[in-house]
Amino acid sequence: MKIALLGMGTIGTGVYEIAQSLPDVEVKWVLEKRFQAEYITDDMNVILSDPEIELVVETMGGLHPAYEFASQALASGRHFVTANKLLVSAYGVELTKLAREKGVAFLYGAACGGGIAYLANLTIARGIDRITALGGILNGTTNYILDAMQTKGSDYAAVLAEAQSLGYAERDPSSDVDGLDTQRKLILASAVGFDRWFKPEDIPTRGIASVLPLDVTWAKTHGLVIRLCARAERSADGKVSACVEPTLVDRHAPEAAILSNVNYAWYEGEKYGLMSYIGQGAGKDPTAANVLRDVRSVSAGHRYMTSETCVPGVPDNASAVERYYLRVPAGTAIPEDWVQLPIHSGEWDVYETNPVPVAEMHARMAEIKSAFFAGIRRA
Ligand code: HSE
Repeated sequence: MKIALLGMGTIGTGVYEIAQSLPDVEVKWVLEKRFQAEYITDDMNVILSDPEIELVVETMGGLHPAYEFASQALASGRHFVTANKLLVSAYGVELTKLAREKGVAFLYGAACGGGIAYLANLTIARGIDRITALGGILNGTTNYILDAMQTKGSDYAAVLAEAQSLGYAERDPSSDVDGLDTQRKLILASAVGFDRWFKPEDIPTRGIASVLPLDVTWAKTHGLVIRLCARAERSADGKVSACVEPTLVDRHAPEAAILSNVNYAWYEGEKYGLMSYIGQGAGKDPTAANVLRDVRSVSAGHRYMTSETCVPGVPDNASAVERYYLRVPAGTAIPEDWVQLPIHSGEWDVYETNPVPVAEMHARMAEIKSAFFAGIRRA
């Protein structure tokens, strides 16, 4: 199959390099402004007007012009494979509709879980079983940071810079540390697993940017480990809750064993029970290999990751409650029914809360950027 590759950044370079060793995939064109070669063009029309190109791979990232190029490729009858979770989380509904109208593929397995074939497996499982919950540790950068802070006592800023230099972090790492990258991946997984396209603003999302050594110490002394977790759950009446937040897991929980930039993606089905996938969630080669897995699966006849019944939806967090570890600037007013007395005071007030509505915790803390909270999930 002759393909075109949009963007020769970290992942694009990986796709190009790995494709050289595959007998069935030829990268005929690369869309890129920065380099020159006979196979490189900076004009999308060169690719669109080449009748030999059957499939377009997008690894340029960002929303624009990725969205315009995706629309043009699909409208021209080309299959489209992308690793761009921002693109799919924002325009998945439109692009899937266009792909279905044109009868061409739209796959984005590498956009959630990096190198892990998580969405591909979830797509198959969803067709067989009723998925009841899904989620996991879906961001390599934040796991790298949290692991280093907790096991080596590393400094937050220094270890974030390391994650950037290793190619794990996004161009703007605030989307990693603020939980937005995880949120986008949860949107994709929920679309595949639950037939609902959620909007980013409807998912309560908190990252790890405010974590302090004080939080790490508290977790450690209580036999807990801090992880940034995504979770979406379907209740018996079909409503789906969804959120992204730091979570304190028991030190013997599977999440606690996920170290460095590794991801842990799971789903639960009525028949399957709990199925979990562990592997490289970020980085050049694993992600590029997963992109090429999607390319091959187009050749094998696979077309879409969501079902025909997948529609836009709003998560219902009305009944979601959680017991939290909460650290706020001293004197911050906290609803009386949330907490007893602080368990630590000084510059910060630290609480272990009663069960608190998840959406309310996120909403109240949205303006208190220095606060840190984490759902407590003891074994
Ligand atoms: N910045 C992302 C991460 C890259 O750290 O997981 C893979 O999506």
